[in-house]
Amino acid sequence: MKPAERLSQLKPSPIRAITDGTPPGAIPLGLGEPTWDLPEVGRKALLRDPGPCAYVPHVGLTELRKAVAAFHNAHLDEVLITTGSQGALFSLFQAWVNPGTQVLMPDPGFVAYPALARMAGAEPVTYRLSPDRFRLDADELIRVLEATPDASAVILNLPSNPTGGGGDLTALKRVADACTARGVLLISDEVYRDLHFGVRAPSLRDVTDRGVVTSSVSKGWGAPGLRVGWAVGDPAWLAPARVVHGYAVTGTATPAQWAALALIEHSDTVLAEARAAVQLRWEALAAALREELGQVVAPPDGTFYHFMPLPPSAHADPLAFCLKLRDEAKVVLIPGLAFGEGGRGHARLSFAATPEQLREGVRRLAPYWKN
Ligand SMILES: Cc1ncc(COP(=O)(O)O)c(C=O)c1O
Repeated sequence: MKPAERLSQLKPSPIRAITDGTPPGAIPLGLGEPTWDLPEVGRKALLRDPGPCAYVPHVGLTELRKAVAAFHNAHLDEVLITTGSQGALFSLFQAWVNPGTQVLMPDPGFVAYPALARMAGAEPVTYRLSPDRFRLDADELIRVLEATPDASAVILNLPSNPTGGGGDLTALKRVADACTARGVLLISDEVYRDLHFGVRAPSLRDVTDRGVVTSSVSKGWGAPGLRVGWAVGDPAWLAPARVVHGYAVTGTATPAQWAALALIEHSDTVLAEARAAVQLRWEALAAALREELGQVVAPPDGTFYHFMPLPPSAHADPLAFCLKLRDEAKVVLIPGLAFGEGGRGHARLSFAATPEQLREGVRRLAPYWKN
């Protein structure tokens, strides 16, 4: 049996290759998901509908679209509800990315981007982030865009998975203008934007209403299992993506949309509590790194990821090093190389884990950095 030709370069997520073999008793600092409870307002809303559990319009529940529109300062017709933000990315790529074209994406970057481009028959082309803190470097991105005349889409991710790096308004505006001038679809993946440490990363919507922002309740609102996300942008970009999403999944689960609505309506408290949870965990991690390893670290621009420099001896084979950490030290980290060559010298540590897990995890890791 042979799967479809266009999937020939598609491999299972390298993150799963590490996490699937997690031994018993290991501390999970690998997966990127909140470990705090689903806020009560969301839990209650899951059960709000008596009677039939009906389909809702393909484009999403009107009440939820209104709430998302208000959150992003957009009009109702600029909002498409999707199955996670990944459903939005998949649908946009299928709708706008032609086979044989290229999609520009960050390196290091979220593992799904190259896979989504390949599923659309396109080639992933990477742009580097700034060498100091992995922030958006407009010069570099525009240089790659100019060298890629058949590019059909560009994806940004501020703050970034896996690095936590953000970008500034001027850089964002320059990239937006360059994409608009070339008629290239610019997607800004802002799924971590509300998990910041005092300064919120700029949104694409601060500089233009021409591109598309994708986000979801998975990170800031602490509800990845609801699978509710959205695309916000020019209705002309959204229209064919809505058709793709409709045929792919019909729509997002109705109870999940009600729960997402309740979470977004309570954004002031839900997001503030999530930031407090992340801040607490960051402080536990930073203290442990200082005490165990003598490392003084600054918080990321956003996310719950610490992109941890690897000891130089691990650079040749970071996967082997992280497998050793997993199986001997019993701590799961993701090698930065899983996110692209630009991540070779780092590992992603998810500090969404509990403070106790973070303290114990760093204690177990320390000997491997000292030797
Ligand atoms: C950068 C980034 N974008 C998108 C997603 C997809 O998230 P979801 O489909 O849950 O919204 C993730 C999930 O980890 C992510 O890290």
